[in-house]
Amino acid sequence: MALYRILIVDDDELQRETLSGFLKKQGFRVSTAESGFRALEICKDKNFELALVDLKMQGMDGIELLKKLKESNPEIQVIMITAHGSVESAVQAMKLGAYHYVNKPINLEELKLNINKALQSYHLLVEINYLKEQLEEKYKDVQIIGESKAIKEVLSTISRVAKAKSTVLIRGESGTGKELVARAIHALSDRANKRFIPVSCASLPNTLLESELFGHERGAFTGAIKKREGRFELADGGTLFLDEVGDIPLETQIKLLRVVEFQEFERLGGKETLKVDVRIISATNQNLEKKISQGTFREDLYYRLNVISIFIPPLRERKEDILLLVDHFIKKANQKCGRSIRGITPEVKDIFLNYDWPGNVRELENVIERGVVLSRSDAIDKSDLPYLGLVSEKSSGRPQPASLSLKDVEKAHIEDVLRKTDWNLNKSAEILGIHRNTLRLKMKEYGIVRPKD
Ligand SMILES: Nc1ncnc2c1ncn2[C@@H]1O[C@H](COP(=O)(O)OP(=O)(O)OP(=O)(O)O)[C@@H](O)[C@H]1O
Ligand SMILES: [Mg+2]
Repeated sequence: MALYRILIVDDDELQRETLSGFLKKQGFRVSTAESGFRALEICKDKNFELALVDLKMQGMDGIELLKKLKESNPEIQVIMITAHGSVESAVQAMKLGAYHYVNKPINLEELKLNINKALQSYHLLVEINYLKEQLEEKYKDVQIIGESKAIKEVLSTISRVAKAKSTVLIRGESGTGKELVARAIHALSDRANKRFIPVSCASLPNTLLESELFGHERGAFTGAIKKREGRFELADGGTLFLDEVGDIPLETQIKLLRVVEFQEFERLGGKETLKVDVRIISATNQNLEKKISQGTFREDLYYRLNVISIFIPPLRERKEDILLLVDHFIKKANQKCGRSIRGITPEVKDIFLNYDWPGNVRELENVIERGVVLSRSDAIDKSDLPYLGLVSEKSSGRPQPASLSLKDVEKAHIEDVLRKTDWNLNKSAEILGIHRNTLRLKMKEYGIVRPKD
């Protein structure tokens, strides 16, 4: 009880003293103020759970003070003290968020009851606000954008399997959103308040990967100077995300199989068998079936990890998602970079829709962020694109340097220099080592035009 702070605001000194004495005896920490102005000053230094506010005061009246208190601390509970006959004002105060009102002369027992109820409501409010924040936090980075049939299917699988403990194997090219999907499954599961632990299994030598996964005891191998908990332990109660699972060496696969089957293991160099409760989601962009036939991936492990399969198609096979993703990433980048880009030009739209996106959604996200940073107007145009500007609208695939003609390269280089010199023709011509008129001719030939600012 002693933790609660109550602020009493009343211009009647006797009233303040009476209330303050009574509430202190109840174990509250009490501050008093003789006016609204003074109350606001006190609130700058202290946080109150509750305020008792006289409705009728000189200067700032109770209603105005209520508004100001709520503005600066929306969770604070306010009980109004009203004279008989001021029902209308009391009602108005309730509409503005006051918890309750008590009439003068104050019945102290009734006041006590009201205060206790108000404090309960304070806690509820704090809790709800906290939950909301957490949800916003949680879903902020697991938003899966897309209207394509493929993405809708992925989403529906996610929602159906989230609550189960079955293993999930997510497949798709690099940058298609495999980790995002894994995080979404975790966020929607009963394990959401426990940890999501990603492990990249890519190109780690045996011992390191095993120590990463299972932990090690001191002295287990050269360099193991301290005991270390593994990822399986950290993920206990939560989700372990095995990224690039196709890269796990065969020896480690045997150990992994045992954990997947029995949820038990030993730390490297340890004797004690540890038991955990972990949901395993794995991801790969490799052809595991082929690895099985080549003998580099264990078939039994494959079946254990692959109880539920999710395949995310490459972006080029679901082009209807591209523009939605563009909007999403522009908003994200605007926030991150403090800009207010509104979209992409029709020309860029064409380029995006015809491009092959070998780096999939991650590539698109990077292109957009770069565009948002570089753009000089309120829309991303062709000159803000790194290499995509080179792609003619009908061609597909990122141009490999070897597939570019000399002309392509010359054009790109001229554009680059122009951009860097802020379209200063003299400077550009100088850098390029050609006459200004030659530069003009080349610009005309290649259709290079200065973007409108
Ligand atoms: N459908 C989507 N909606 C919103 N963002 C997405 C979507 N798909 C992918 N992203 C974003 O694209 C980026 C790459 O996604 P992610 O890291 O999940 O891909 P990945 O398949 O794990 O790639 P890699 O195989 O290279 O590890 C992330 O920033 C992710 O948030
Ligand atoms: Mg990944």
